Amino acid sequence: MNNILIVDCIKENIDTVYEIDKTSSNYNWTRNMFTEEFENKNSFFKVLFADDKIAGYIIYHIVLDEAEILNIVIDNNFKRQSLGKYLLEQTLNEISKQNVKTVFLEVGEKNIPAINLYLKFGFEQYNIRNNYYKNGENAILMKKICQL
Ligand SMILES: CC(C)(COP(=O)(O)OP(=O)(O)OC[C@H]1O[C@@H](n2cnc3c(N)ncnc32)[C@H](O)[C@@H]1OP(=O)(O)O)[C@@H](O)C(=O)NCCC(=O)NCCS
Repeated sequence: MNNILIVDCIKENIDTVYEIDKTSSNYNWTRNMFTEEFENKNSFFKVLFADDKIAGYIIYHIVLDEAEILNIVIDNNFKRQSLGKYLLEQTLNEISKQNVKTVFLEVGEKNIPAINLYLKFGFEQYNIRNNYYKNGENAILMKKICQL
């Protein structure tokens, strides 16, 4: 893959993002949730293009010196090609330029691909929320302290 680009989501991208979420994640969002994030001024909503196709997206918030990653998804057709790693790495670089001290996220305890990805970037578990997801799965709460 040659042409990889991360850009702000525009309104016209939301349908594609919603489709990717439906097919490629087990923690599906409603279309309304995407629209709300698109309109939320604390929300950063980025899409990753690979060879001119939307291959994934990430949504995160920054409030003062804390950031929270709400979701990161790579389309099934593009999984395991290091795109998730690239998207998270670039996001953490952007976040660290904005005076953020701690990045938080929640991940399903059975979601091994995502947990492995986060561990790779130095996220650590600090708590568990029981029965957090609709399917009864527990959520692992993770955080990463940003380097000064
Ligand atoms: C998590 C996710 C974004 C990873 O994207 P990806 O582009 O396939 O991942 P990468 O190819 O960049 O892999 C990065 C690392 O993630 C881990 N990983 C990815 N897929 C994995 C799998 N199937 N099994 C185990 N570990 C996996 C590995 O540590 C991998 O590093 P490695 O390539 O050195 O082994 C992707 O699996 C996804 O979209 N999952 C569904 C959505 C989701 O659950 N998101 C998290 C919400 S909290």
